[in-house]
Amino acid sequence: MKKYNRRDILQFLGRAGIVTVGVTSGASMLSGCKGGEKVVAKDIVDKVVNPSLDDVFIKGIEYSSEDKLILAEGLDFDIIIQWGEAISDKDTFGFNNDYLAFIPLDEKGDDGLLWVNHEYMSPMFVSGFIHDGSTKKTKEQVEKEQYSVGGSVVRIKKDSAGKWRVVLNDPHNRRYHGQTKIPFAWDEPIAGANHAIGTFANCSGGVTPWGTILTAEENYQYYYGETDYNDPEWKTRRPETLAYGWEKFFDYPPEHYGWIVEVDLKTGHARKLVALGRCAHECATIFEAPDGRLVVYTGDDDNDQCLYKFISSKPGSLTEGTLYVANIETGKWISLDIEEQPILKENFKSQTEVLIRLREAADLVGGSKLARPEDIDIDPISKDVFVSLTNNVPKENYYGEILKIVEKSPDKTSLEFEAITFLAGGEETGFACPDNMAFDQQGNLWFTSDISGSKMNKDPYSLYKNNGLFVVPVFGRDAGLVVQVASAPVDAELTGPYFSPDGKTLFLSVQHPGERSPNLEQLTSNWPNGGDELPKPAVVAISGRLLERLTLGREEDLPQG
Ligand code: FEO
Ligand code: CA
Ligand code: CA
Ligand code: CA
Repeated sequence: MKKYNRRDILQFLGRAGIVTVGVTSGASMLSGCKGGEKVVAKDIVDKVVNPSLDDVFIKGIEYSSEDKLILAEGLDFDIIIQWGEAISDKDTFGFNNDYLAFIPLDEKGDDGLLWVNHEYMSPMFVSGFIHDGSTKKTKEQVEKEQYSVGGSVVRIKKDSAGKWRVVLNDPHNRRYHGQTKIPFAWDEPIAGANHAIGTFANCSGGVTPWGTILTAEENYQYYYGETDYNDPEWKTRRPETLAYGWEKFFDYPPEHYGWIVEVDLKTGHARKLVALGRCAHECATIFEAPDGRLVVYTGDDDNDQCLYKFISSKPGSLTEGTLYVANIETGKWISLDIEEQPILKENFKSQTEVLIRLREAADLVGGSKLARPEDIDIDPISKDVFVSLTNNVPKENYYGEILKIVEKSPDKTSLEFEAITFLAGGEETGFACPDNMAFDQQGNLWFTSDISGSKMNKDPYSLYKNNGLFVVPVFGRDAGLVVQVASAPVDAELTGPYFSPDGKTLFLSVQHPGERSPNLEQLTSNWPNGGDELPKPAVVAISGRLLERLTLGREEDLPQG
């Protein structure tokens, strides 16, 4: 008898989205959008061959406040690399590892290049600077901080025991940081220059169909501030409360940051993609339409900020095309092209200025104000677009949600869509503040939580204890059932989940353990080295039988032996 797989069923149904189960734990947090679907055609869904959570005997973990990386039974981890370790005779691994991508160099995928974002740093650990109100940061301290952020390229290979190891001094190993010169992929200069000095605030990212990576500059305003655009000369800077104060030694224009940066890990070339706009980009996720045009989704992670998509006008182009902003209430993508929007023409001098001041432009054309759009991932089965909205505390949205965008046309170039709450955070679903996501090969959604350090283990988040990693099937009998599979060390956040090509390794960043330590004598975490060691951000490789079962199929479908 033919054994149906999920793809068969979905093809049979014609459109994947209609079988999806939406789970909410309360009213939708988006006014005007559907507050979660009901179970539709469940009898059909039940027939789908799915490695459901029961089938794999997954036992979730309890919430934990221990200073450990705790994993569900059947999962193990090894540390691949931690902050400060050498990647070559010249360079060391940066701080606060975030987004990860693995670009294989061999067919099997056991040898390849790991891209790692280094989002931000704790001055106390990196430069020794303590914010006590009387001490002044030195130029040398700023330079240390600049070097600790950006990104790393590290060649990793499996050894004979199947463990991932760093290939020290591999010619690909390279650092990008706060002093790396990176050109703008744009015809006009940006704030008077055709290149920027530095990349930082690199939060999440994406991979292009041609194997380069995209790294998203998120909270850039903390480094050189932001321009006050009420000043016609663009000379005034808006003060930032969390500022690192780099502008005291390096007066680089704020307009040079807040972009999506493309990096070719094989050649080392990098460029800032102006066409995708400038904001606190969390990530950039590409879908390639059958005609080769690219659709790139990106979110602006701040309270009441927007979701964007870029549609290229030519196959494979990240420089030519139109940028749109989502209006969730009407289900429309609204053009941000100055030639198509008279209101933009009235307020901005050029398309370049629209792209630099993207938030203001999006507001003028009616982009929906969302609850901090974080990561965006495309379901490998239904091709629907999942967006995590982490929270919007000023609006008393504490737990966030995972939103599903169903585009009207399968090639995703249409300007109409439907937005549906797939999962709302809260007690009923068992998680709060979703952030980074990754789909495994079976279409299960893995996501991490980002309860901020100052609020973790405090109300209204006490229930959830430390941040974690969760898995939820999107289809099948257990759709919407959230299981926690990892708990982070004290103060840490799990970020950048990324599966190896064979699905047997989940690369994961452990970011900012011990971040709330008041000083070096009173450390809140000693992860990963234990004892009284300094806490260090690190990248781990998670593997184990449970991962193989969850990602590759049921026990009987696995190769024997
Ligand atoms: Fe860097 Fe949006 O998290
Ligand atoms: Ca993030
Ligand atoms: Ca992701
Ligand atoms: Ca976050």
